[in-house]
Amino acid sequence: MQRESKTPQRDFHATRATSLVAFCRPGFESECAQDLGALAVERGANGYARTERGSGFVEYACTGADETPAIAWRDLVFARLLVNAFGKVERLPREDRLGALMPLIEAMPTRWCDAWIESPDSDAGRELAPLCRALNSALIAALKKKKLIDPKSTTRLHIGLASPDTAFVAAADIATSAPWPGGIPRLRFPRGAPSRSTLKLEEAFLVLLDDAEREKWLKPGMHAVDLGASPGGWTWQLVHRSIRTIAIDNGPMDDALMASGIVEHRRVDGFRFEPPRAVDWLVCDMVEQPRRIAELVARWLGNGWCRRAMFNLKLPMKKRFDEVQLCFGILEAGGALDLRAKQLYHDREEITVFARAG
Ligand SMILES: C[S@@+](CC[C@H](N)C(=O)[O-])C[C@H]1O[C@@H](n2cnc3c(N)ncnc32)[C@H](O)[C@@H]1O
Repeated sequence: MQRESKTPQRDFHATRATSLVAFCRPGFESECAQDLGALAVERGANGYARTERGSGFVEYACTGADETPAIAWRDLVFARLLVNAFGKVERLPREDRLGALMPLIEAMPTRWCDAWIESPDSDAGRELAPLCRALNSALIAALKKKKLIDPKSTTRLHIGLASPDTAFVAAADIATSAPWPGGIPRLRFPRGAPSRSTLKLEEAFLVLLDDAEREKWLKPGMHAVDLGASPGGWTWQLVHRSIRTIAIDNGPMDDALMASGIVEHRRVDGFRFEPPRAVDWLVCDMVEQPRRIAELVARWLGNGWCRRAMFNLKLPMKKRFDEVQLCFGILEAGGALDLRAKQLYHDREEITVFARAG
């Protein structure tokens, strides 16, 4: 919400604002707005979402509050990045954008550990990437000159360039915000992995688990089942961690993976397969109706066939947010604990979910 107007003599328009700004996959703005709105209401905040389809971002303006509700980026399924906007500048002068942004930044009683200038992942937003990079260096230099950088601070400054002449000025707590600019972890395609899908599981381990969990839960010698495994991108992530894997798919598995000696390939239906012994992980990338996958994973967790699961819910339908809620209901009713879900950068029309058994 706009609270106090500080319209200066020049013709840009700077306002103080209290809003949450989320970046998401272009085309998923409405789901991101629903996600954000539902959590904000749950946390006692009132507001409304402003968004445009294809823009790759959502603004949730809070009404009647001096502060935005405490929502962590991890709590949201469809947001890649979430920041608390305290200002917005429109009609930024192209010859001196920083000159228009600095008064809002200097009005904050905050010193910053770092500053990122980001644009959304839309076609228009990607064109702004070079400008963001150039402005970022100039911003850091300006902040250092004014002694507004403090490496001990836990707050990061974010400038979101929504267009060449509109910017959000925002803050994020480093403990509860995405640790990658734009919310996009830049992963290199691993040499030898048989499909690009491999990056989805790598990103899922990075985003949905923390450092300690990765260390504790992804140990050499563990056992996994991969449903819908062909050609083996997800299996590759497990084998790379020396996890023995039963790969279920009628399709072929990559020869090099089979040569690792720790993959057993079974050409059977993933919905009928029962593991010979309980495994540490079930991973599943089968293209199927999301509620069928939720029921399947709930059965595995409920029967004690796996301790943890990482799986995709494909969302080609219209009411994607409702479908996700329905799937969470199925999983919870089946005894799944600790549900975590995100639409990852490497996900397309789908989300990735982590769940564990009690
Ligand atoms: C998106 S691909 C999986 C890609 C794989 N995760 C990778 O990283 O290379 C989906 C796979 O699910 C398999 N699939 C679909 N329905 C299945 C079923 N009922 N049982 C076993 N596999 C199935 C398909 O054969 C296909 O290979």
